[in-house]
Amino acid sequence: MIASPPLPTHAVLGIETSCDETAVAIYDGARGLLAHRLYSQAAMHAEYGGVVPELAARDHVGRVSALVAETLTAAGLRANQLAGIAYTAGPGLIGALLVGGSFAAGLAAATGAQLIPVHHLEGHLLAPMLETRRPEFPFLALLVSGGHTLLARVDGVGRYDIIGETLDDAAGEAFDKTAKALGLPYPGGPELAKLAATGQRGAFRFPRPMTDRPGLEFSFSGLKTSVLTALPRAITPQDRADLALAFEEAVTQTLAIKCQRALEQTGLSRLVVAGGVGANRRLRALLQSAAETQAFELYFPRPEFCTDNAAMIAFAGHARLAGAQPSDSGIAARSRWPLHTLAPA
Ligand code: KG4
Ligand code: ZN
Repeated sequence: MIASPPLPTHAVLGIETSCDETAVAIYDGARGLLAHRLYSQAAMHAEYGGVVPELAARDHVGRVSALVAETLTAAGLRANQLAGIAYTAGPGLIGALLVGGSFAAGLAAATGAQLIPVHHLEGHLLAPMLETRRPEFPFLALLVSGGHTLLARVDGVGRYDIIGETLDDAAGEAFDKTAKALGLPYPGGPELAKLAATGQRGAFRFPRPMTDRPGLEFSFSGLKTSVLTALPRAITPQDRADLALAFEEAVTQTLAIKCQRALEQTGLSRLVVAGGVGANRRLRALLQSAAETQAFELYFPRPEFCTDNAAMIAFAGHARLAGAQPSDSGIAARSRWPLHTLAPA
């Protein structure tokens, strides 16, 4: 029997290995998201209280191949039916990035698919477009992750104007550091949110940094110091839950205040929230009620696409497919990569 020739598709496979999640997904221009898989290394890093870059890279090596095979099977595709292979090229841990990049380059060379380097934050910013109710351009984006906290005006793919940023710690970093101070296991952010859910208001109160002056900048390192100062007063388990709640309220209200200010300043009427902290329930509820009273449209990715995932990389890769450079240009891996340097798609 003669094997049938590969069917042409608009499917792009995305690989994400920038930190401690190995993730693979396939997005098809005509049919949407076909499959996505994720393996979290969190349990491995928990022993060390944070991500160990060398261990992260090694673990990606052991997982990525099987995860790609599994995702292709789930999507009902063969590798030679892919139009493009996208991978996170930065920012992130360099060793971890190189694993995904090398695998993607090898697969692209073997199949003839287009190799597409993707900016991790562009993936986060476009993640709400994976949902059925998706925002139209232009919109205001609040990107809150472990490494970044910024407000950007988004006029299209690759058209990002950063109008506010953190001067020190990212919101997710503040969650993680405060969680560590409270003795919570890694990854701290979701654990702190869980503890805060049993907290009661009023016992502790922390400042809403930089909301008392004009501007769209953030600063969260002082808040961490306030928590450390208050910590000796948190003796019982209930005290600690109360403290976690007060911290969560300070961060989420600060974010909400700046979002509303940015909407007023830009005149935009759509707000998109992306990045790991976007999974925080209190932040979602706060912005939801603001959207109702202030009459702006609010868009979130589903919580699993707020945190690191490959669906967002496959989607951004698909958006970048037409403009992608030939795959013999080598593997890109950048630990730092300013978002504003991206070209429009
Ligand atoms: O986007 P992401 O998965 O990775 C980066 O690109 O950084 O974001 C991870 C960050 C971590 O700091 C984590 O603690 C935080 O998002 N995070 C949360 C929640 N889920 C994840 N912070 C607060 N509440 C949550 N539910
Ligand atoms: Zn991320």
